[in-house]
Amino acid sequence: MNKVQVIGTGSYVPEKIVTNEDLSCIMDTSDEWISSRTGIRERRISEGENTSDMATKAALKAIEMANIKPEDIDLLIVATITPDSFTPSVACMVQGNINAVNATCFDLSAACSGFIYGITVATQFITTGAARTILVVGAETMSKALNWEDRNTCVLFGDGAGAAVLRASDKGGVLAIYTGSEGSKGNALTCGAMPVINPYVREKTDYIPENYKIQMDGREVFKFAVRTMTKGVEKLLEDAKCSIEDIKYIIPHQANHRIIESAIKKLSISEEKFYINLDRYGNTSGASIAIALDEMVQKNMLKTGDKILLIGFGAGLTYGGLIIEW
Ligand code: COA
Repeated sequence: MNKVQVIGTGSYVPEKIVTNEDLSCIMDTSDEWISSRTGIRERRISEGENTSDMATKAALKAIEMANIKPEDIDLLIVATITPDSFTPSVACMVQGNINAVNATCFDLSAACSGFIYGITVATQFITTGAARTILVVGAETMSKALNWEDRNTCVLFGDGAGAAVLRASDKGGVLAIYTGSEGSKGNALTCGAMPVINPYVREKTDYIPENYKIQMDGREVFKFAVRTMTKGVEKLLEDAKCSIEDIKYIIPHQANHRIIESAIKKLSISEEKFYINLDRYGNTSGASIAIALDEMVQKNMLKTGDKILLIGFGAGLTYGGLIIEW
């Protein structure tokens, strides 16, 4: 069985910075409320770029770092809940943009757990020998899915993309995987698509645009997030036969500082192990862990042999984590 190594990372966020103060000029909110409840201070918001544009930019950077050619890519997965269109997939659009002519391409919908799910799928393809070089991208234009009249949700999210190139290897790599879903709790965080309207539907459905934007039961999601993060970290350590001391850094999904703090308390782990950048980007859903990982790589924080733990949770509801040896 092949091992699976990350050989390149990349990320891209839109130039436009929107601070909490900026939001307080267009809605009834404040820097004090947002930063004390979430830790978020600013986020990047698209001024027109769509998910495939950002995914392409992050992908090109990851390919450059990996020192591969786009045609080396066998499989291209984009984790997103904010695609440009139902079809073609963002993955196919990226393929066209970067000329990855030999790749099989598809999108994966697992919200904020999307990048973890993407690496999980890629790992299966590589370990079995079905693919050798895989590009996994997490990319979101959350700003187009938000109800900008709903201060409960729109202050929490941001736009961006992150990417990783994975390759078959004989050393290091993905040491443990933990994923799961709780579909029965899906109503806690939703974003609708098209209602069924056709000449044969007897009961008329009114198209109410707000119903097709992000809606959330914040408290329910908060409890789910703390529970799954805590259980996920414990399970991953057990499966990889590691202790927390063996882990150099934990990269959590960047949703809310208070969620991370609660998990830290339950797990009795020092906060210093956690890489946190949500103050600058807010919650970029499927892109969040990928952007954080690339930032750490750019800052030269990861050395060969370091073990890192990635842990995410999100709409679906979904959750998942990985331990990777760098
Ligand atoms: N600015 C000012 N006030 C706001 C606000 C905003 N942006 N958003 C909500 N409020 C108000 C509400 O209207 C409510 O007012 P009311 O009590 O008069 O009705 C009040 O603040 C609610 O505050 P509080 O009870 O302190 O909220 P909370 O502690 O539940 O925090 C969240 C709200 C959303 C920050 C919290 O539930 C959370 O972080 N949940 C997880 C969300 C998440 O990360 N989701 C993505 C996971 S992938």
